[in-house]
Amino acid sequence: MDDPIIEIYAGIGSDAPFYALVESFYEGVEDDPALRSLYPDDLEPGKRHLAWFLIQRCGGPTHFSTERGHPKLRMRHLPFQIGIAESEAWVRHMLAAVDAVPEFGPYQSSLTRYFEESAAFLINKSEIPTV
Ligand code: HEM
Repeated sequence: MDDPIIEIYAGIGSDAPFYALVESFYEGVEDDPALRSLYPDDLEPGKRHLAWFLIQRCGGPTHFSTERGHPKLRMRHLPFQIGIAESEAWVRHMLAAVDAVPEFGPYQSSLTRYFEESAAFLINKSEIPTV
């Protein structure tokens, strides 16, 4: 299967840019009240888990699975009400972070596609009017 994301860690070669990506993403979250309200008071554990996940998903070391088990991202996001607006805001902050960390420059288009698709998959709030 065509999976360009899995080559990214090998191209970048270290964890540090992934931690920088996550820090930059969370700066966007902290400045976005609608998104911030979904996250817990202490953002540090979530930052670590997201960095581990992205490192693993991009073909790097598998700290995420070692520490957290199977990713099961849809299940892990069920406690949070994610509609179209939340999904789009998440992607906006993540793509701004991709833009801010130069190591990810060569991978912008594949990451854009990956984040847009995975964020859409995590929408779990129906917005179809009931009446
Ligand atoms: C669609 C919009 C999204 C929203 C609103 C959202 C929100 C959240 C929230 C509130 C948490 C909990 C953070 C914490 O406990 O500190 C979380 C965890 C996480 N999110 Fe998302 N997320 C979204 C999309 C994504 C996407 C697209 C990915 C991956 C590409 C992702 C990966 C993760 C990971 C790996 C965790 C940590 C899971 C764990 O170890 O328990 N999220 N997310």
